[in-house]
Amino acid sequence: MCGKAPAVHPPILVPSLLAGDHAHLADSAGWGEKLGLPWLHLDIMDGHFVPNFTFGPELLAALRRNGSKLYFDTHLMLNEPDRYVEAFAKAGASNISIHVEPDYDHAATLARIRALNCQCGIVLNPGTPARTIEPLLPLVDLVLVMTVQPGFGGQSFRRDMLPKLTQLATWRKVKGLNFRLEVDGGIDPLTAAECRSAGADTFVAGTSFFKAADRAAFAAAFAKL
Ligand code: DX5
Ligand code: ZN
Repeated sequence: MCGKAPAVHPPILVPSLLAGDHAHLADSAGWGEKLGLPWLHLDIMDGHFVPNFTFGPELLAALRRNGSKLYFDTHLMLNEPDRYVEAFAKAGASNISIHVEPDYDHAATLARIRALNCQCGIVLNPGTPARTIEPLLPLVDLVLVMTVQPGFGGQSFRRDMLPKLTQLATWRKVKGLNFRLEVDGGIDPLTAAECRSAGADTFVAGTSFFKAADRAAFAAAFAKL
C-alpha cells in the first residue's frame, strides 16, 4: 500500500510589511502584488512576547477595505494568541500562525483558527527544538521556522537553523504531511537557496525585498529556487 504522497510546494516569496513604509502601508502592501506575488506577511507584536509593537487587526481590515485580495499570512508574536485569533480572522487574515513557546492550549487554538475559516500555522523561535511541535504537525497548514530572534527586521540569518528545517522536512515526508515550511528572518536569494536545499518552500523577506534596487529581478530569483 502506498501512503498519500506529500505535495511538493513551489517556492514562494512573501514580502514582510514590517519593512515597508509605515506612512504608506497600502502602497507597500501592493508592491508584491504588482509583481504577481500572492502572499503578504503581517507581523503582529504585543510588546510582551517580543519587545516591540507593530500592527493590530484594524490594519488587515483597512487593507481589505482598500481592495487587497492578497493572502494575508499573519504571524502572531503574542503571549496570549488564543485571545486574538478571532479578531484577526474577522479582520481578513488568510493564515494565522501562532508561536509554540507561550503556555496555552496550542491544539485547541489551531482548531479554533480552522473553525474561523483560516489556515493555521505553528511557529518556532530559534531556541525552540523541532520536537516541541512534532505532535502538532498533523494539525497545521504551515510551519514557520524563525531564522532570527523575532521582534525586529534587518537581523542576520541564523544558519544554525538549517538542521531544524531538514528535520521538519524529513518528518513531513515520512509522515505523509503537506504543510508549507516557511522561513522568516534574514532571508535573501542566497540564504533562501540554503533553506530551499534544507526543505523550505515559503520565504518571508522584509528588508531585502523592500530595499532591492530591482524588485522584479529579486522576485524572479526566488521563483528559480
Ligand atoms: C521578525 C519578523 C519578520 C521580519 C523579517 O520578528 O517576524 O517577519 O519582517 O525581517 P527581515 O526580512 O528584515 O529579517
Ligand atoms: Zn514574521
